[in-house]
Amino acid sequence: MGKITISSSILSADFARLGEQIQAAEAAGVDWIHIDVMDGHFVPNLTMGPFIVETVRRITRLPLDVHLMVANPASLIEAFAKAGADRLSVQIESTPHIYRLLQQIRELGCRPAVVLNPGTPAASVAPVLHLVDMVLVMTVNPGYSGQDFIPAVVDKIAEVHGLLRAHNASAVIQVDGGITPETLPITYRAGARVFVAATTIFKNPLGIEAGVRGLRAAVPD
Ligand code: DX5
Ligand code: ZN
Repeated sequence: MGKITISSSILSADFARLGEQIQAAEAAGVDWIHIDVMDGHFVPNLTMGPFIVETVRRITRLPLDVHLMVANPASLIEAFAKAGADRLSVQIESTPHIYRLLQQIRELGCRPAVVLNPGTPAASVAPVLHLVDMVLVMTVNPGYSGQDFIPAVVDKIAEVHGLLRAHNASAVIQVDGGITPETLPITYRAGARVFVAATTIFKNPLGIEAGVRGLRAAVPD
């Protein structure tokens, strides 16, 4: 079974029991906690700010994988770094200065990632591949958990994989949106190795542990 990283998105967690839910995910063996930051401008939804990151930092020692879906990321990265983010992922569509923003994230002591919406071409990340630890290829339109995986994005994952090889870059590919035991293998074969999942883990009818186990069991040989 291939090695993967699972980043559990708390967007589908029960916030009345956030501490318990994160501890259950940790006990089930997730690798990272994914925190979805939405500002009601870049995406229609409004979710979590640095305060939640700071709270989650006190609940777990797992790396905090913070996904910024905001209109002005440069104004917020310092607050999230101070709150305890280990990884900061920024949407390439959200700034005219992606190069500088990724450099600044590194200077703040976080691991930078660049994120591509479903409509953004793979080639747009080529100039910044050497600046990032990860490329996140969105497999839904950002904004909500519980949406259906977009199959048309699979070819782009393979394209990003090809670009990373061509540039001899060490960044890994993360996918986010609609990841289930059915869709994980398709994206794995295209080159993804880091999998974000909210619904599959936190809304699994058989529980969090079964959700994580199902994802791990779906990894192709
Ligand atoms: C969507 C977010 C995702 C979301 C995934 O905008 O970036 O991280 O929580 O949810 P699922 O796994 O339910 O598609
Ligand atoms: Zn996300």
